[in-house]
Amino acid sequence: MADERKKVTIFDIQNKKNRGEPITMITAYDYPTALMVDRAGIDMILVGDSLSMVVLGNETTIPATMDMMIHHAQAVRRGAKSTFLIGDMPFLSYEIDPREAVRNAGRFMKEAGMDAVKLEGGRDRVEAIRAIVSAGIAVQGHIGLTPQSVSKLGGFKVQGKDAVSAKRLLEDALALEAAGCFSIVLEAVPDRVAEVVTRRLKIPTIGIGAGSRCDGQVLVFHDFAGMFDRFIPKFCKKYVDLFSIVNTALEQYSAEVKARAFPAPEHCYSIADDEFNKFVASLK
Ligand code: KIV
Repeated sequence: MADERKKVTIFDIQNKKNRGEPITMITAYDYPTALMVDRAGIDMILVGDSLSMVVLGNETTIPATMDMMIHHAQAVRRGAKSTFLIGDMPFLSYEIDPREAVRNAGRFMKEAGMDAVKLEGGRDRVEAIRAIVSAGIAVQGHIGLTPQSVSKLGGFKVQGKDAVSAKRLLEDALALEAAGCFSIVLEAVPDRVAEVVTRRLKIPTIGIGAGSRCDGQVLVFHDFAGMFDRFIPKFCKKYVDLFSIVNTALEQYSAEVKARAFPAPEHCYSIADDEFNKFVASLK
């Protein structure tokens, strides 16, 4: 368990890149997970719109709304005192017009105490990013496989696999950096392409399915913890199989209840004999 630590800031994140020290990030959607992540000394938590899939059971991230994101971000805020917190802007909360983007980014700050917001997309998002940054809010970009564009991308597919799309990816990254992003998530990108992008940027890259040469790594908590029952992308590593562990415990609970082995005496409250006897006598 990490010692009490100071609140992580965007300067700490940038300094890690400058020193060549890897940056750690994971998603969280609730109070207990945030508490564990915070205690583990992870640098950043993303309250990701992946919650639509891994927590709410939807097929994609598209159904996530601002109200859902704020609700979960508030719970994460209560659990994580020192981790840098990023609220993920859901589909259509920033694409329509920059004023709406600023208003929604502001909700993450005012209502949920986030330290930054993340949004998906390359050069098309520059206007929205500039507006949010000039309102005083730190923005993390997200390019490569952008799950909110699953319809346009034709599925959850690796991006930047040919020279033209790799070049486009680099140009998008440079455009996001110039627009004021403090870091960029690179998702499902060949590792050599991610390495070139990482070298060309002054700001940190955070990879998910983008190899070990990014400045940092992010995983979806439920993939990390073995709690997502559907597909597991190639790039995920299951660090613990919580699904099986909890399932075994639930079967044991069920068996003990059926055998009247739970609750045991140590789980029960007592009443003094004389009080109990008076109670029984009062029933006659
Ligand atoms: O929503 C999310 O969890 C994400 C990560 C995959 C980076 O955007």
